[in-house]
Amino acid sequence: MRSTQLNLDSYNTDKITHRYLDVYDPILVPWLGREIKLLEIGIYKGGSLQLWRDYFPLASIVGIDVKLPEQFVPGERIQVFQGSQSDKRFLSEVANKVAPEGFDIIIDDASHIGELTKTTFWHLFDNHLKPGGLYAIEDWGTGYLDNFPDGKRLNSVSSPVSSVQSLSSEAVGKSVKVPFPCHSYGMVGFIKELVDEQGAASVTMTRPTKERRASKFKHTVITPCIVFVTKIAPTLSASPNPMLPGERLGTTTISWDTGDESAGSLYVSKNGGQESLVATGRRGSVATPWIQTSRQTVVTHFTAAPRSRSQRLASHHRESTNTFYRNP
Ligand SMILES: C[S@@+](CC[C@H](N)C(=O)[O-])C[C@H]1O[C@@H](n2cnc3c(N)ncnc32)[C@H](O)[C@@H]1O
Repeated sequence: MRSTQLNLDSYNTDKITHRYLDVYDPILVPWLGREIKLLEIGIYKGGSLQLWRDYFPLASIVGIDVKLPEQFVPGERIQVFQGSQSDKRFLSEVANKVAPEGFDIIIDDASHIGELTKTTFWHLFDNHLKPGGLYAIEDWGTGYLDNFPDGKRLNSVSSPVSSVQSLSSEAVGKSVKVPFPCHSYGMVGFIKELVDEQGAASVTMTRPTKERRASKFKHTVITPCIVFVTKIAPTLSASPNPMLPGERLGTTTISWDTGDESAGSLYVSKNGGQESLVATGRRGSVATPWIQTSRQTVVTHFTAAPRSRSQRLASHHRESTNTFYRNP
C-alpha cells in the first residue's frame, strides 16, 4: 500500500492519527503514478496537502480553506486558495484556473456540516469532477453528534415512525407499507440523499420515459469515516476485438454508453483517414464493416456532445479512445 512507503510521522494531519490512510490506500490504487489533479477542501495546517503531494509524485495538489494557515508555504506542486466551500462562484473560479479539464479526485475535509457539504458536492461533482473521478467526503459521522451544529444523537425510539414500527413484522406478506425509522440530521441526512441518487434508475423507472435516467454515480462506498462516490464514466467496447488471423472479413459491433444524459457521438476513422460520424445517442450498438486489406487499423473516437463549450469534451474523447485492429 502506498502509505507504507512514506514517512507518515512527517505530516501534520489527523488523517494519520485516525488511520484514514488504511481506508484511502486500496481506493486510491487506480490513481497511483498518474498526473492527476487533486483538490482538498479544508487545509488546516497544510499537512494533508503535503501528504497528497508525496503520495502522488506526479500530481498537482490544490487546497481551499476559509482561513489559510499563516506558517504554511505551499511550495512545489501545491496551490492554495482562500474562500468558502459554499461559494459556488469561488469554487468554479479556482477549478477553471487550476483544473479546466476537471479534477480527478476531490476530498471534502472542511466544515462537515450537511448543507454546506451538499452544496459543495453537487456543484463540484456536476461541473468540475472528471468522468470516472472520485469524490471523498470525510467525517460524515458528525451527523450523529449532539455537540455538532447540525448533528443529533441517534435515537430510534424518538423517531417519528417508531410508533408504527411494530407493525413491520405483521406487515410481512400484507400490503402494508411501513417505513423504517430514519435518522437524517446533518451529514447523515446528506449521505442518505446520495443513496437516492445512487438508486436513480429505480427512483425514475415508473416515470414517463423521458424522465427516466441512470444514476450519476458508478458506485458509492460507505466506510465508518469516509464516503466515496465514483462518477460514472462513458464506456466503449467492440466485439470481436481483435479479429483472429485468417478470420474472414466481417463486422465489428461497437457499443457505447455516455453514462449520463448527454448525447454521445461515435466516430470511426479507418487507416488514419478522416473520421466519420456513424452513430449518435446516449447509448447504443452499431455494426461497422471491417476494412478490406490486412494490417489495417480502425480507430473509433467516442465523444459526448458538449453541454456547454467546456473542456469535458476533450477528456471524454481521450479517455474513451479505443483501437481495434485486424491481424494480418
Ligand atoms: C479538519 S480541518 C482540515 C484538516 C486537513 N484536511 C488535514 O487533514 O490536515 C477543517 C478545515 O476546514 C476549514 N473550513 C471550515 N469551514 C469551511 C468552509 N465553509 N469552507 C472552507 N473551509 C472551511 C477550517 O478552516 C479548517 O482548516
